[in-house]
Amino acid sequence: MAFAFYTSVCLALFVFENGALGKGKIRKFPENFEFGASTAAYQIEGGWDEDGKGLSIWDIATHTEPSYIQDGKTGDVATDSYHLYKRDVEIIKELKLDFYRFSVSWPRILPNGFANKINQPGIDYYNNLINELISNNIKPFVTIYHWDLPQNLQNLGGWTNPAIIDWFGDYAKVLFEKFGDRVKHWITINGAKHICFEGYGSDLKAPFLNMTGIAEYMCTKNVLLSHAKVYHLYDEHYRSLQNGSIGISVYCTWFEPASETLDDYLAAEDSKMFDWGQYMHPIFSKLGDFPKEVKRNVALKSAEQGYPRSRLPELSDDEVTHIQGSADFLGINTYTSRLAYRDASLDGLYAVPSFGDDVGAVFVKDPSWTLSQSNWLAEVPRGLYKLLKEVKRLYDNPSVYITGNGWSTAGGLLDDDRVNYIRSYLNALLDAVNEGSNVKGYSVWSLMDNFEWTHGYTEKFGLYEVDFTSPVKTRTPRKSAFIYKEMIRTKTLDPDYEPENFVEVEEKKIKID
Ligand SMILES: *[C@@H]1O[C@H](CO)[C@@H](O)[C@H](O)[C@H]1NC(C)=O
Ligand SMILES: *[C@@H]1O[C@H](CO)[C@@H](O)[C@H](O)[C@H]1NC(C)=O
Repeated sequence: MAFAFYTSVCLALFVFENGALGKGKIRKFPENFEFGASTAAYQIEGGWDEDGKGLSIWDIATHTEPSYIQDGKTGDVATDSYHLYKRDVEIIKELKLDFYRFSVSWPRILPNGFANKINQPGIDYYNNLINELISNNIKPFVTIYHWDLPQNLQNLGGWTNPAIIDWFGDYAKVLFEKFGDRVKHWITINGAKHICFEGYGSDLKAPFLNMTGIAEYMCTKNVLLSHAKVYHLYDEHYRSLQNGSIGISVYCTWFEPASETLDDYLAAEDSKMFDWGQYMHPIFSKLGDFPKEVKRNVALKSAEQGYPRSRLPELSDDEVTHIQGSADFLGINTYTSRLAYRDASLDGLYAVPSFGDDVGAVFVKDPSWTLSQSNWLAEVPRGLYKLLKEVKRLYDNPSVYITGNGWSTAGGLLDDDRVNYIRSYLNALLDAVNEGSNVKGYSVWSLMDNFEWTHGYTEKFGLYEVDFTSPVKTRTPRKSAFIYKEMIRTKTLDPDYEPENFVEVEEKKIKID
């Protein structure tokens, strides 16, 4: 019975077309569909030690361990949005975005992480940005936490210390009090996998703790409880006054089995549940709690490895209930897919214990997929369609915003590869919407080139190119900006549209190169 089910699912899955966009077919977006662009504080603001701002784990890491960053650079200045936010709002206005998704820097608001001391210039900065957006009819879509933890809190264990649930609640309360009269879309936490697995369970993001197989799971529990605390805080104390909505953004890769074998099918299923089910399931599923695949794998491996209990901390019944349903919408950051398989080549591939070893899968890119400037990012639009269908099936069709999706290049204004990527992902999104997925909006990563974490300034994700050598960090629209603008204006996806006024930009390119 189980095997018959698996075979039919697998046959359906195995014919995995990349889902490229056909020419000539103009498609309409739903009436109320909203378009935006995304950034994050550390990646754009600069002003790293100005006006009373405290230091974050990224300030410390980039200054003390430049070898972690590909080009050895920092976000000290970045696109200098701390000073140039008015120019940011101008380009947002040029694009006619419905919303702008940005994050607030915790140490700019609370220099030591604690809510006993509020940094007024930090409040002023975000007030100015929010007011500038609203006076131009653009909705602020605010991420409360996007990876720049106050170092002071990291010294106390950061996201592995359960005390952070209160610290995060105190910080969020300040934001609701100061900005909630004008901000109607909140994201509590962006990318739990990057925070926990990359930051604590490996050496890929600050704080580069690298306590593999242990710290990422301690972090996950605290991230979920912190999120839930802030959701309930908003729900119980601010919603009736401020009428906004609040959700969480989860990073998702789509996984396909690399072959028709049962092992590979299970490898792909486990990969999905470790990659995003781990963070979504407790909030959005009917049963709540961590996915059974994650609980089972970590418990089995932990026992084999001689640990007295599972390395995955348990959620009590009260915690399960507290977390369950704690979101008005699901934010999805998604960029790419992988083929997953499980065979003898797993022996010795991952550290023991580790997240990778617990998943028990090897990941590869199909050689036919188009690659970006980022080694992890291949164009597989069909993955977005499948992800949206699976989220609909597993989590009772929640309201979804795509809060991050985009393409990196090495630079230059003629970015036809980014144009193809955005079009083909939106085409896949429309396929899912036409089959009932409840997607409310889409936000491109990113509004402009910025500090791409450990890749420094080597990967360009912007609709606008940023000249980092110029004192005013000149922002220039790429071809993709013109295409996106037309999509927003017409609320249609036209695969053949070519911007007329792009000639100017092409000329400019010749001058620049
Ligand atoms: C992180 O841990 C892994 C596995 O133990 C190890 O191979 C790697 O060298 C560590 N990274 C750093 C920067 O220490
Ligand atoms: C919030 O929404 C409710 C119901 O739609 C409405 O009665 C109330 O006036 C709104 N409050 C604010 C502050 O906008």
